[in-house]
Amino acid sequence: MSKAKVFVTRIIPEPGMQTVRDAVDATVWPEDLPPPRETVLDGVRGCDGILSLLTTPIDQEVMDAAGSQLKVVSNYAVGFDNVDTDTATARNIPVGHTPDVLTDTTADFAFTLLMAAARRVTEGSRYVLEGKWQTWGPSLLLGQDITGATLGIVGFGRIGKGMAHRASGFDMDILFADDWVAADDPVAVAMGARKVDLDTLLTESDFVSVHTPLTPETTHLFDAAAFARMKSTAILINTARGPLVNPDDLHAALKSGDILYAALDVTEPEPLPLDSPLLELDNIIVVPHIASASVTTRARMSEIAAANLLAGLEGRRLPHCANPEVYG
Ligand code: GLV
Ligand code: GLV
Repeated sequence: MSKAKVFVTRIIPEPGMQTVRDAVDATVWPEDLPPPRETVLDGVRGCDGILSLLTTPIDQEVMDAAGSQLKVVSNYAVGFDNVDTDTATARNIPVGHTPDVLTDTTADFAFTLLMAAARRVTEGSRYVLEGKWQTWGPSLLLGQDITGATLGIVGFGRIGKGMAHRASGFDMDILFADDWVAADDPVAVAMGARKVDLDTLLTESDFVSVHTPLTPETTHLFDAAAFARMKSTAILINTARGPLVNPDDLHAALKSGDILYAALDVTEPEPLPLDSPLLELDNIIVVPHIASASVTTRARMSEIAAANLLAGLEGRRLPHCANPEVYG
């Protein structure tokens, strides 16, 4: 029997990459940058499977280009807003993603950003590199305390709960807003995290960390009205998806002092252009979408992406399926 045909939109880490190359007839886009749209539409033609990265939209046009034999889309990410899951579900195509293995790594990084922003680590580093360090100063680069502060977690899924675990070690007061998680959720109870509505969370939190998926409802959840509710000393951390935050409103809020600081692992757009007004501000940290980027986690994500792909090709249930509705 001939091997299944798969288009892989970028080289993924080992061991998943080798598993895929061994098991299927794989066409792998070899460049560092994502494949151009035309290349994707061409590459998927006649494919049984697609292994995608979050940088490549897998929409109806791509699924049409692939053809009716397409059996599975395996996305190398926990988030899957780049995949049109409605169309996939309507066509009975399971969509794989890579949750769980990246939860701790991502929560570690969100907490890293929280601390780096609170204590102005990147500003301090720039200060030294720019030759400005003359002496110890009583008022030099004063930041915000973390221990005992209030952390508001928007989206209390796996990663949001991971944030709560870390925050509890710093004796933080923890609030969360999530319509899908009950106030007496076991993790919430164990961490002493209090369920509140979003308005209360925004008003009361010293730190607000976003961990919600990107959907039409959550797009620009953080806009001028949200920033106006937040404390003028508040720090926003976004490791989820860039478009959860309106970048123009964030710029205005950081500039006017509506909020104190922002730390972004994700931006709108990505990459953030070097001439973005956000990058002219001192009170911001921007890093290039690296929250899950540890050696071990990226390797484990590759194993799951490969396992999802092969399960889909063989008609087995995906180990991690983003649209379980396809299984009825
Ligand atoms: C990265 O952003 C992911 O969704 O895994
Ligand atoms: C992702 O794993 C989440 O549920 O936050």
